[in-house]
Amino acid sequence: MIEKNLYIKTYGCQMNVYDSERMADILKPLGYTLIDTPAGADMVILNTCHIREKAEEKVYSDLGRIRPHKDEKMILAVAGCVGQAEGAEIMRRAPYVDIVLGPQTYHRLPEMIARAQRSKDKKEGPGRGILDVEFPIESKFDHLPQEHTTVGPSAFVAIQEGCDKFCTFCVVPYTRGAEYSRPISAIHEEASRLVKRGVKEITLLGQNVNAYHGLSPHGEGEWGLGQLMAHLATLEGLFRIRYMTSHPRDMDEGLMMAHRDIPQVMPFMHLPVQSGSDRILEVMNRKHTRKHYLDIIEKMRKHCPDIALSSDFIVGFPGESEQDFQDTLNLVREVGYGQAYSFKYSPRIGTPGALLEDQIPEEIKSERLGRLQELLFTQQKAFNESCVGKSMPVLFDRRGKREGQLLGKTPYAQSVYVEAPARLYGECLEVKIEKASSNSLTGIVVTTESE
Ligand code: SAH
Ligand code: SF4
Ligand code: F3S
Repeated sequence: MIEKNLYIKTYGCQMNVYDSERMADILKPLGYTLIDTPAGADMVILNTCHIREKAEEKVYSDLGRIRPHKDEKMILAVAGCVGQAEGAEIMRRAPYVDIVLGPQTYHRLPEMIARAQRSKDKKEGPGRGILDVEFPIESKFDHLPQEHTTVGPSAFVAIQEGCDKFCTFCVVPYTRGAEYSRPISAIHEEASRLVKRGVKEITLLGQNVNAYHGLSPHGEGEWGLGQLMAHLATLEGLFRIRYMTSHPRDMDEGLMMAHRDIPQVMPFMHLPVQSGSDRILEVMNRKHTRKHYLDIIEKMRKHCPDIALSSDFIVGFPGESEQDFQDTLNLVREVGYGQAYSFKYSPRIGTPGALLEDQIPEEIKSERLGRLQELLFTQQKAFNESCVGKSMPVLFDRRGKREGQLLGKTPYAQSVYVEAPARLYGECLEVKIEKASSNSLTGIVVTTESE
């Protein structure tokens, strides 16, 4: 087999990170090895994100940057959510792209590559690109290789994909398709293979991960996320289970109980609220009120008192008044987040939000984002500072930039820098937190026993 080089650039969410890993797994048997730059690559895949305008624009500018590196043999593919949403447009604007595919068709990559290769061999030239953005009947998960090629101490496993919620600002239901839950046995199998290869932490992924309802192991019914996590917790060697991203509408007792009863389920929850104003939540079609969200947080804290919370916020959604924005700030003050992401509303073609009147001027969006981020930043810093002096288990999942330094994660998903020998990479050890900044912690190892 001829050895070939593969470069993948990943934009967007963790699901895209997972998809990129799986694309590399699919291409490995064809002789492709991952490299870090597009120069010298036989195949380049841009695994794209369509969520905001900026993410989309980046794809076109990166395509322009890659073009000079593209020689006769290079196959250039655009995958992911921009591929899904704008396939034909990409082919038109960048006819030198060989393949455009969506998130649900990447199991067919080998076939597409063979076709692209035939077209190159026949010197058919630009404009003969392959477009595969169907939502196939078969699930790609049934066609992915069993083994992950590269594994570290922490791994992602997709358990649910797609979205039926149709928030009025969001492209995901159009780019990822309808909600689909993988069967419990398939997930258990994938997780178990990872754990056998030394994975200690698994993050279960889904666009609406807590809407998960997969076929039970013996096919007698459906299990929710809480039951799935209880099942995975029986895997010997799996220390930590996380999940993302949840939706407030799909929170149930089972999930809260899982936090209370399963030690492997980490005390951290990313539960996006987007806005603190009932009026805006309604127009966003979030299908819940401010009170519903706050009630969930209260219940969750009752079951799991040390849980750290995270959220996503959108400022400047059409019609958002200063009062609506104040409601968001108040909600943030009321909840108290360990970390959070916040964005300016970006109107997306094809979503109902883009057609609403009363779009908010860019300067107001920027100004509100500044105020919100200042508040969130203060909370994040305070949360990090509250950890100083405490000891907690840290999973060393990344190598530091400097020799003798490792990076790890606390149970609350904070990054910790620790002076530690390279051999501790992959270990989960008790670390005493000595310093905190707004974005990370610094600590020292206080025991060499595994968690
Ligand atoms: N499924 C998740 C989020 C998916 S997208 C959920 O339901 O919460 C990730 C985040 O991007 C969203 O939570 C939202 O805050 C942000 N986002 C989505 N569409 C956006 C848009 N048009 N403009 C700005 N931010 C957006
Ligand atoms: Fe987008 Fe809403 Fe679905 Fe989340 S729940 S993916 S924000 S439509
Ligand atoms: Fe982006 Fe698609 Fe994820 S739009 S956020 S890559 S689901």
